[in-house]
Amino acid sequence: MKKANRPSVPLLALTVVGLLAGACGSEDIFPSFDELELLRELHTLTRRPPVDSTNRFADDARAAELGLALFNDKKLSGCGTVACASCHGGDGKTVDTAKAEGCDGHLTGRNPPSTLNADYNRWFMWDGRADRLWNQAILPMTNPFEMNSNATIVRARLTEAYESSYKDIFGKTPDETVDGDEVLANVGKLMQAYERKINRTSAPFDEDVRRFIAAVDVSQAQVEADPAFLGLKTYFRKGQCAVCHKGATMSDNLFHNIGVKDTSESAAGQYVAVQPMLDWQFNAAGRFSDNKTGLDATRLAAVQADLATKRVEMEGAYRTPTLRNIALTGPYMHTGELATLAEVIDFYDKGGEPAGMFTGTKTATIVELKLTTKEKQALIHLLETMTGAPQ
Ligand code: HEC
Ligand code: HEC
Repeated sequence: MKKANRPSVPLLALTVVGLLAGACGSEDIFPSFDELELLRELHTLTRRPPVDSTNRFADDARAAELGLALFNDKKLSGCGTVACASCHGGDGKTVDTAKAEGCDGHLTGRNPPSTLNADYNRWFMWDGRADRLWNQAILPMTNPFEMNSNATIVRARLTEAYESSYKDIFGKTPDETVDGDEVLANVGKLMQAYERKINRTSAPFDEDVRRFIAAVDVSQAQVEADPAFLGLKTYFRKGQCAVCHKGATMSDNLFHNIGVKDTSESAAGQYVAVQPMLDWQFNAAGRFSDNKTGLDATRLAAVQADLATKRVEMEGAYRTPTLRNIALTGPYMHTGELATLAEVIDFYDKGGEPAGMFTGTKTATIVELKLTTKEKQALIHLLETMTGAPQ
C-alpha cells in the first residue's frame, strides 16, 4: 500500500483508538496517517460478494434465474399474497414504513433491511440469527407473520410452476425431494444465487473519497478546501462513525448496543438470537450445508465461545448495518423508529437513548457528540452520497 508523503503530519501517528476516543484535538491535521489508511479501505468494494462454499449453487446462473422468479412469487406463501419482493423491492428499496405487512395483515417485528449487497454481510438479520444468506431465506418463508408457509406449500408450488428448472439444478424433482427441510434449504440456495447478483458497489461517495485521497498528496490546503473535508473529518473524529462503519462495506460486521429505543420481547437482540442459530439444523455446519467443516463452521464455534463470556457486549446488540445505499432503506434502525437521516444524526448527537429505554448496556463509544449544525449537515450530506445507481 502506498505510504502517505505528508511532511506536515507527525509520522508518529496516534493510534486509531486513541484518536477516536478524542485523544487528539481538532487542531491536529486531518487525515492522520492511520485515518488515511482507513479512508483507503472505504472505497474499494469488490463487484462480487465473497464466495460462499456452503451453497454449491451460489454462483450458478440457472439457480439465480429460478431464484429471481421465486423471490417474486406470492404463491410460495401460505396466504398466497406475500412474496419476498412484497417487503424487499428487487431494486433494493424497502417499505417506507417502520414495519412491513406479511400474511393476513400481520406486521413484522422489525424494519426490513435492503437485500442489495446483502451477501457482503457476515451475519444476517439485525440480531445475526442466520449465518448464511441461503438459510436466512427460510426464516421469512416459515414465519407466520411474514409468508406463513411450509415445505408442503413450497414443494407444491415448485411442482406446479418450476418442476423442470428445479430438476435441472438439483437432479431430482420437487416431489422426489421427500425431506421437506431439504426443499426449504434448496429454495434458500436459489434465493441466495439471485440475491448475490443484486449489488450496488459504487456511489458518488467513492469518487469523493478517491479525490480526497488524491488531494492529500497535493497539499493540506487542497485537503481542507475539498467539499468532502468536513463530512469525512466529522465521520472519523467527533462523530466516531468509523469505529463501527468502516471498511468497504462500511460495517465492521460486528454487533453493538448503541441504545436504540426498544421495549419489545426481542429487545435483547444478539444475546437471545445466537443459541438458536448455533443449534439450527440449517446453519453452516448443519446437514444442508455444502461445506460443513469449512471456515463458516469454525466461526460458529467462536461465537459459541463468545456467548459464554460476552453477555454484556451481546445483550441488546444489533449488527452494524452497511451505510451503502442508505437512501433506499429508511426509516432507520432495527425498529424503524428514526424516519430520516437527520433524525439518525440527532440520535447519535445525543448519545443514544437513556438507560431504561432499551435492554442491556450501551457501548462506551456512544456518548453525546455536541456536533455543530454545520457538522451535522456535512454528515447528512456524506450519508446521502453513499447511495449508488443500479449496476
Ligand atoms: C413481510 C415482510 C417480509 C417478507 C415477505 C420477507 N422479508 Fe426479508 N426481511 C424482513 C424483515 C422485517 C427483516 C429483518 C428481520 C430481522 O432482522 O429481525 C428481513 C430481513 C431480510 C434479510 C436480511 C438482510 C441482512 O442484511 O441481514 C434478507 C436477505 C431478506 N430479508 C430476504 C428475504 C427473502 C429472500 C424473502 C423471501 C423468502 C424475504 N426476505 C421475505 C421482511 C420481510
Ligand atoms: C459503536 C458502533 C457504532 C458507531 C460508533 C456508529 N454506528 Fe451507526 N449503527 C451501528 C449499529 C449497531 C446500528 C444498528 C443499531 C440498531 O438498529 O439497533 C447502526 C445504525 C446506523 C444507521 C441506520 C442504518 C439502517 O439501515 O437503518 C445509520 C444511518 C448509521 N448507523 C450511521 C452512523 C453515523 C453517521 C455514525 C457517526 C455519527 C454512526 N452510525 C456511529 C453502529 C455504530
